[in-house]
Amino acid sequence: MKKIAVYPGSFDPITFGHLDIINRALKIFDEVIIAVAHNEQKKPLFTVEERVDMIKSVMKDNTRATVDTFDGLLVDYARSCKAQAIVRGLRAISDFEYELQMAQINRGISREVETVFLMTSVFYSFLSSSIVKEVYSLKGPIDGLVPPLVKKALDAKFNR
Ligand code: COA
Repeated sequence: MKKIAVYPGSFDPITFGHLDIINRALKIFDEVIIAVAHNEQKKPLFTVEERVDMIKSVMKDNTRATVDTFDGLLVDYARSCKAQAIVRGLRAISDFEYELQMAQINRGISREVETVFLMTSVFYSFLSSSIVKEVYSLKGPIDGLVPPLVKKALDAKFNR
């Protein structure tokens, strides 16, 4: 049976920290679906379409990674994709409580889908999409944090 995992998030924008998790998940699963959430509460900088396009470009050489969008419950989406697992990255102990709650709630909703945690590489443990946007807005360097095409997309957004 094909092992499929969903890696959900806002990806506003995708960072090297996310890519680290995706590439490691691809060693465990046959297919990883990168699922961009419609989450307007976070007031995203990039539209869902822009985020999907960026991820597709970054992952273009990997046929086992697909990109999609979802709204509603994550477990419902995972089941609709026939995914057996949801992949989440843990960056620090501070992530644990929220992730435990999410995993327990999701498991309460559906026992068909397991949550699998991967420890984010130590180099990216401080990273988040918001930090990238903040450093960029203050004209700091983000080269080691996001792929070059994401940097270009930020340049275009901020007319730089
Ligand atoms: N490297 C770099 N950054 C990372 C990272 C990693 N490995 N892992 C997480 N992050 C960052 C993210 O970029 C995000 O940054 P931001 O807050 O600045 O945007 C932050 O850490 C939090 O990440 P995450 O917890 O994955 O939040 P998210 O907004 O990206 O995604 C959903 C959250 C979409 C997965 C979650 O809200 C969800 O499942 N929603 C669907 C509704 C649902 O089913 N809810 C649960 C049951 S009630």
